[in-house]
Amino acid sequence: MTVLVTGGAGYIGSHTLVELHKAGFECVVLDNLSNSFQESLTRVFSICQANMPFYQGDVLDKSLLKEIIARHNIQSVVHFAGLKAVGESVAEPLKYYQNNVQGSLHLLEVMQEMSVNQIVFSSSATVYGDPHTVPIDEAFPLSATNPYGQSKLMVENMLRDLASADSQFKAALLRYFNPVGAHASGRIGEHPQGIPNILMPYISQVAIGQREKLSVFGDDYPTHDGTGVRDYIHVVDLAKGHVKALQAMDKINGAKAINLGTGQGYSVLDMVRAFEQATGQQVSFEIAARRPGDVASCYANPTLAEEFLDWRAGLGLDDMMRDTWRWQSANPHGYSDKT
Ligand code: NAD
Ligand code: UFG
Repeated sequence: MTVLVTGGAGYIGSHTLVELHKAGFECVVLDNLSNSFQESLTRVFSICQANMPFYQGDVLDKSLLKEIIARHNIQSVVHFAGLKAVGESVAEPLKYYQNNVQGSLHLLEVMQEMSVNQIVFSSSATVYGDPHTVPIDEAFPLSATNPYGQSKLMVENMLRDLASADSQFKAALLRYFNPVGAHASGRIGEHPQGIPNILMPYISQVAIGQREKLSVFGDDYPTHDGTGVRDYIHVVDLAKGHVKALQAMDKINGAKAINLGTGQGYSVLDMVRAFEQATGQQVSFEIAARRPGDVASCYANPTLAEEFLDWRAGLGLDDMMRDTWRWQSANPHGYSDKT
């Protein structure tokens, strides 16, 4: 089966290409490289020892989408392409609605026109807003606290509506918790632009000496040590979840939301200690004020993924830390030095 992977040059997309290839899927990649480097694909091809057709272009470009779908006889789409910086989405909301919502709309219009009936969509735990309790299951109420979250929710709604209107159409809405880590080869990983606003890349940049110290945003949350608790999931486990979702498409009726998390919550200080222990590197930190919009605790109930997809996270905190450090130390400036 040939799968179109939008946003395939990005962090999660590149790891997913490797797992899809391993599982025997043919992949075609569409990415505008707005938040990624072609070098990531060069390395994916080298890990897989196979090339994949790559189009540098935009999901907003309907004629390109039609051309790709026709030329490669695309049967399914894995849709990663999107912008993901929460702060930027607050400052420039229309950019997020255009790229994430309109981009998805164009993709869905072309899919419908060309009878491509299966999509795996990158949703996010952000659609649970401020959850009333944890662990979070898929039936929890949905809300958004920023334009990025709104854009994910709007696309989920479009997919639900389309699936109700068209009985042939199937969508897996994969709600990722917090992806971290890198491929075990150390050759592909996360390349944040500028100062990282998420935890794991910040920790590894402090360890390598690019940042002075980590600011821990709040130590007065109602958690075991007062710092925020999240469900960190190894990106390779997450990538495998996409393979399982494609393999389960026949069982899906309509649009199905599925959490991809480990079910285990770790605090910011747990993460710092685990990194230090796994890598032998020191991470300086200071306690700072809470970050506006943060919730105390967010972790998944992953039962549905286990039961429906036969998927569970296999890699633990040690693997996440070791693989992050292997990638960071082998590529101190990510892909930038190599392009
Ligand atoms: P990423 O930025 O590394 O990858 C996204 C890719 O999409 C990039 O390569 C970018 O160049 C490309 N892209 C963006 N807009 C495009 C467009 N209009 N046309 C073509 N290509 C476009 O991000 P990621 O971490 O790999 O995330 C992938 C998806 O998963 C995103 O939709 C993101 O919102 C979602 N997600 C990510 C996280 C996370 O913490 N990383 C959590 C939940 C959901
Ligand atoms: N944190 C710090 N210092 C930092 C960065 C983060 O203490 O420099 C803390 C945060 O306060 C939080 C935890 O580390 O307690 C995790 O923060 P991240 O920014 O890494 O991740 P979030 O859970 O806040 O949010 C991210 C995305 C959301 C997405 C969510 C789940 O920004 O859009 O992961 O996928 F919904």
